[in-house]
Amino acid sequence: MQLFDVYPLYDIEIVRGLGSKVWDKDGQEYLDFYGGHAVISIGHTHPHYVERLTGQLQKIGFYSNSVKIGLQHELAEKLGKLSGHDDYQLFMCNSGAEANENALKLASFHTGRKKVVAMHGSFHGRTSLAVAATDNPNITAPVNRTENVVFVTLNDEQELENLFAKEGGEIAAVILEGIQGVGGIRIASDDYLRKIRTLCDKYGAVYVADGVQCGCGRTGKYYSHDWAGVNADIYTMAKGIGNGFPIGAISIAPHIAPKYGMLGTTFGGNHLACAAALAVAEVMTEDRLVENAARTGEYLMTELRKLPNIREVRGKGLMIGVELNQESAPFRKRLLFDEHIFVGSSSDKNTFRLLPALNIGREHCDRLLTALHRQLA
Ligand SMILES: Cc1ncc(COP(=O)(O)O)c(C=O)c1O
Repeated sequence: MQLFDVYPLYDIEIVRGLGSKVWDKDGQEYLDFYGGHAVISIGHTHPHYVERLTGQLQKIGFYSNSVKIGLQHELAEKLGKLSGHDDYQLFMCNSGAEANENALKLASFHTGRKKVVAMHGSFHGRTSLAVAATDNPNITAPVNRTENVVFVTLNDEQELENLFAKEGGEIAAVILEGIQGVGGIRIASDDYLRKIRTLCDKYGAVYVADGVQCGCGRTGKYYSHDWAGVNADIYTMAKGIGNGFPIGAISIAPHIAPKYGMLGTTFGGNHLACAAALAVAEVMTEDRLVENAARTGEYLMTELRKLPNIREVRGKGLMIGVELNQESAPFRKRLLFDEHIFVGSSSDKNTFRLLPALNIGREHCDRLLTALHRQLA
């Protein structure tokens, strides 16, 4: 059998990782400023993570959600504290798309309504409702297209107000990333997030904060939406919370009540997944990685802005977009093959993304800056 050929691949096979470095099968070392799409939060093969996972595997890896799983409660408590939302409720699933799918479904159950407001430039995943709320017709199959999703322009408060004035009684949810990742690191303004809160309160809609990429402490707050100083009703999570183990989750405000059977999953919240997420939460708390992301990100962005031939540096903490005066794809290739540094693409053709582990060292940042200077000068 052959692989279903959907990914354009670099001719590199990564076989080992440690911290913010990875190695290919020929022993070539690379610096990882991408973390495989913002997934690696505490570094590759972190010793506490490896120990937690192997220890759990030796006890039990999986049992279904038909029995009590104490590790889920332990995780809910730790994530509640870490995120500053310990009165919220946790539901676990397996990916970012699934987290958004469940969040929107829950919003619809809760309100009894069908309409979802999403942003131009958004990416929420590839399952049916998540992809319908994603602004990319190339990945939306005919079966996913629905008039229930309305797209508006990020940060246009007037447009959102007009939409609510017209259709507010039908809107179940507003979903947005605090910082659009795939869309090229576009930041939702604090005023816009506050406006969403106000309108959702006024019209009884649910504010869904997609924190799949911009959450887990990456921007210097646990959820990047926190910068606006207002709460969302549902936060979605994945990527960084598992550091590579496939985990998704939603954190749900106390006023949204559960009902048996309304959400469910076979694998979500299994023992091994909980052990991985617990290891991440423990390292993040112990090593103060949210603060570290803010500090290191500040340093990186200040230094990046001094480099030549850069149009703009956007971001917060360790979620950074660098917009070049040139197309970024060939530039990223040079960084990878000449400098041995991974960075990420975005749907903005001149912008590449930096999404490293939250404990990446200054020496690695300096190595990146030197390489960028060499390639840009
Ligand atoms: C903001 C955002 N939401 C959702 C997703 C989907 O996550 P997954 O690929 O785990 O389904 C992604 C993935 O890149 C994302 O960036």
